[in-house]
Amino acid sequence: MNITHTRVITFSPTHTSLKIARAVARGWQGTEADELDLTCRQLREPFAIGADCMAVISVPVYAGRVAPLALQRLKDVRGEGTPAILIVVYGNRDYEDALVELRDVMTAQGFVPVAAGAFIGEHSYSRPGMPIAEGRPDEADLALASDFGRRARIKHESGNSEPFFIKGNVPYREVGTPTPQAPVWHEDDCTGCGTCVDCCPTMSIRMTDEGEVQTEPSTCIKCCACVKACPAGALTFDTPYTAMLHAKFSARREPELFI
Ligand SMILES: Cc1cc2nc3c(=O)[nH]c(=O)nc-3n(C[C@H](O)[C@H](O)[C@H](O)COP(=O)(O)O)c2cc1C
Repeated sequence: MNITHTRVITFSPTHTSLKIARAVARGWQGTEADELDLTCRQLREPFAIGADCMAVISVPVYAGRVAPLALQRLKDVRGEGTPAILIVVYGNRDYEDALVELRDVMTAQGFVPVAAGAFIGEHSYSRPGMPIAEGRPDEADLALASDFGRRARIKHESGNSEPFFIKGNVPYREVGTPTPQAPVWHEDDCTGCGTCVDCCPTMSIRMTDEGEVQTEPSTCIKCCACVKACPAGALTFDTPYTAMLHAKFSARREPELFI
């Protein structure tokens, strides 16, 4: 079937997966794509993407797997033999089994992978003074992503729909139960703008009538959307992982493309 349009489908609390997906879609069709952004949105009923659409599905890696909330939000997105470019974005440590997991889940939901890529995004835990892939995706990443979209189109139009190699293992790596933790609010810096409340994917932040910001560790997914979006720097997420990742994973990694 002829592809008439592309659609970016993403879950992207700190926008790196979104940026890569947009660049890939631009490379495919030369213009901006429609977007289904599931970061702060749970579909209420199945959402079908027809086979005349190229789906660009892009999600973050958490603990070497697809971020669990991304999988949950994607579960009602259905393909109808719909071609898809699959992307995971990770914070310069590793993506381990996330890309094969995304392939398996989206294939089971009716998508047909055309190409897949693992890209690098600034780590959620990156901080001023302790950067981890700071500023990524950068111009070089976005140019590569756009070219990847262009190449995926050429492949698709050649009629090549053979299964292709994607790095990762099945069974996927096991992930332990996360320890509840949420960002800490710094009252003196807060201007009460409410950006943190609006950008939290799990509604784990509330502002009281007195203007106090409360964060809820039991539902927080540690995505750091609020930390990065706060214009006043009034939220911090302190974890020993930041120093460890900064020390061990500062060497630049490059995207890996499977096509
Ligand atoms: C809970 C959590 C776990 C993460 N695990 C990994 C990981 O295993 N490997 C890695 O390189 N980056 C990891 N990251 C970093 C994110 O994959 C990275 O920052 C990504 O760019 C975030 O995507 P987004 O901007 O679309 O939200 C993790 C981040 C969080 C919040």
